[in-house]
Amino acid sequence: MSDDLLRRLKVHGSVPAHIAIIMDGNGRWAKGRALPRPLGHHAGMRAVREVIQGCLDAEVGVLTLFAFSQENWQRPAVEIDALMSLLEEYIARELDNLRSKRVTVCVLGDLGRLAPGARQAVDRIMADTAGGSDLALNLCISYSSRAEIARAARQLAEDAVAGRLVPAEIDEDAVARRLYTAPWPDPDLLIRTSGEQRISNFLLWQLAYAELYVTPMLWPDFTRRDLFEAILEFQRRERRFGRVSV
Ligand code: FPP
Repeated sequence: MSDDLLRRLKVHGSVPAHIAIIMDGNGRWAKGRALPRPLGHHAGMRAVREVIQGCLDAEVGVLTLFAFSQENWQRPAVEIDALMSLLEEYIARELDNLRSKRVTVCVLGDLGRLAPGARQAVDRIMADTAGGSDLALNLCISYSSRAEIARAARQLAEDAVAGRLVPAEIDEDAVARRLYTAPWPDPDLLIRTSGEQRISNFLLWQLAYAELYVTPMLWPDFTRRDLFEAILEFQRRERRFGRVSV
């Protein structure tokens, strides 16, 4: 069934080069089953596998997942610990599989705040998957878009003070080159699960012209087929980038 959709989207139009996803609703998924919240996050890992496979099948070049925000550090310690353990478990379990599928993993965010075990796991997956050519998978962890933009501004100021740059040279490209996402094109499509219609401090600069797709589905229920439905909807949109249609 999902392969029918895959065939349709391949003939239908161009596939987004970059998809970004706010994976929301793990807590509500767990609550609906009278389970502790961490089990919702655990169930969310299956959906992560589904969308990675879907992007490989549809030949999407870049997938950026919002896994843990800087604001999430304010959650109860037990939930933070569970999420960090899950990250380590995910990396230990998926590393070989991702490498064999030629997926390059980058972790974007303030990694200095990670506990040593999580930091080592993150460094390992980035080193061991480097050079994979079929999909760039970005995991945003301890990530805040405003902090990312402030960091870029700080780097511009440092470059100006050091004489490497004159202020008149500061343009949009100069800012974009100093964001974590500098190597990749901006997302074409943002998917958010669980029905919330917010951007939540995610890729504020990069999403300027992304098409937004909000589904009421909770993240652990999201499948490869749902990804293909979102891409088909994207293909029906008219993107004008502020211009008039021709
Ligand atoms: C938001 O749901 C989800 C998160 C804060 C964590 C996302 C993590 C995963 C999907 C699993 C781990 C993934 C990797 C790549 C290791 P929420 O807790 O805010 O849900 P709620 O709004 O229903 O409470």
